[in-house]
This record gives sequence, C-alpha cells and structure tokens, in this order.
Amino acid sequence: MVFQKRHELIKGWILEAATMILKSLQEELTVEVKTHRNDLVTNMDKAVEVFLISKIQERFPTERIMGEEGFGNSFQDLEGTVWIIDPIDGTLNFIKQKRNFAIMIGVYHNGIGQMGYIYDVMEDEMYWAVKGQGAYCNDEKLPMVEDTSLKEGLVAINSGMFATNRYHAAEMGLASSGVRMVGSAGVETAHVVSGRLAAYLSYSLCPWDIAAGKVIAEEVGLVYKKLDGKEVDLLSKNGIIVATPKAYQEILTDYLLKP
Ligand code: IPD
Ligand code: CA
Ligand code: CA
Ligand code: CA
Repeated sequence: MVFQKRHELIKGWILEAATMILKSLQEELTVEVKTHRNDLVTNMDKAVEVFLISKIQERFPTERIMGEEGFGNSFQDLEGTVWIIDPIDGTLNFIKQKRNFAIMIGVYHNGIGQMGYIYDVMEDEMYWAVKGQGAYCNDEKLPMVEDTSLKEGLVAINSGMFATNRYHAAEMGLASSGVRMVGSAGVETAHVVSGRLAAYLSYSLCPWDIAAGKVIAEEVGLVYKKLDGKEVDLLSKNGIIVATPKAYQEILTDYLLKP
C-alpha cells in the first residue's frame, strides 16, 4: 500500500492520543465556553490537538494543518497536503457521557481526500480508509454498503435540525424505520459506514467534522454531499448528508429540495 508508512504513523498517534484521553477520565476537566453554552472546549480537546499537530509537524514539516481548536479558520485554499483534525468530536458527549466521542483526522491533497480516520475511543473502533483501497474497522475490511432505502433504514439527524424541522427533517424521520441521535458527526458517520444507519444528516458542520468521514464513506459506496446535493466545501460550513445511494436520492428529492 502506497500510504502504509503514513497509515502506521497516524494509527499510532491516534492510539497515543486516546490513551491521554482515557487517563484524563479519572481527572477533573477544565471546561470553557466558546461561542455559546453548548459550544464547549476542554483541556483535553486542546491537549490532543497540540499533541497531533506536534507529531505531524515533526514528521511532515512542510505539510499544512487545519485544526478545530487552533488555526482552523485561517485557510483560504486547500493546495498541497492538508491535515484536517478534530481532536475530540462530540465534546459535549465527552463531558457529559464519557462516551460517544471520536478523534478524527483527514488527509487531503489539493482538495481531494486521501486518508480518513474516525476513532471511537470508548468502543475502541478505528474506522479508516485510504482513497481507492477500501475502508476498514480496526483490521477488518468493511464490505460495500447495502443500498438500503429510507423506509428500510434507521437515520441519524442532528438534534437541532430535527427539533426545528429544518429541511422537513421530522417528516423524513417518520418515513424512515426510525431516528437515532448520538451527537458526534464522526460516530454517526461511522454508523452509516458500518451499515447500522442508512443516513446521517446535519446542518452547519465544519471542515473537521466532515474531512475524515467523507473519505471513509466514499470507500464503501456511500454518497457524501451537501444538503442541496452539491459537493462539500472544506473551506466553509456545510449542511451534509451521508447516505446509501437509494436513501440519498429519496431524501434529496422528497425532503431536502422540497420548498
Ligand atoms: C460537534 C459534533 C456534533 C455536531 C456539531 C459539531 P464537536 O463537534 O460533531 O454532533 O452536531 O455541529 O460541532 O464540536 O463536538 O467537535
Ligand atoms: Ca467544538
Ligand atoms: Ca466536531
Ligand atoms: Ca471537536
């Protein structure tokens, strides 16, 4: 595999970061409010990001890094190799549940996803993919997803989007087998990748919520698009859908594009 060396490094860094997080579960967290009462950051979000950035900079000094808790908003383009990092995806879950959170890394080259990693720390499940080489959960190769319809599948919908019925999310949920909400874009995307869900939808996700999952999802035959059906843009916020091809087409036509 072309990316074998990189893969071993990334996997090792993520597992080391996870050990830091697991140790911190015994200690008191420092929690700060970012933009509003549900937008929080802990000392561990910051520590994991600093740790991953230091490893990447040491090994790949010329490559660029976009991280949620650091200099994520200063990117004007995606030229060259860009690492896109979410040190803890699901910070609210980390604080309140001590589960259902993930470490995520995406590696893009000139805007095209090359490698994606979502590590569900408490489940010890690492979902990862290298473009064109399939997706894995830990060491197991994941099969291509079954093309489940909306009616046959469970869907995850961002709680705010569902509660306000944006994009007819409530009707969409009713037309499915049932709605599940976890509160981590990474964990929810991993559940679509592994076939436990037919779709995951969220408005207003940042590049680091998307980057890793998109690479992995596309390797198992899922569609990963903006809520208007266009390509996602990793330089701004996006509403996104990741779904089986069948569920995607139904959701797009019957709900997302409906006035
Ligand atoms: C958040 C989670 C959540 C999503 C938010 C994200 P964070 O990431 O993925 O599920 O609804 O939009 O910001 O802030 O916990 O890394
Ligand atoms: Ca956050
Ligand atoms: Ca996130
Ligand atoms: Ca985060």
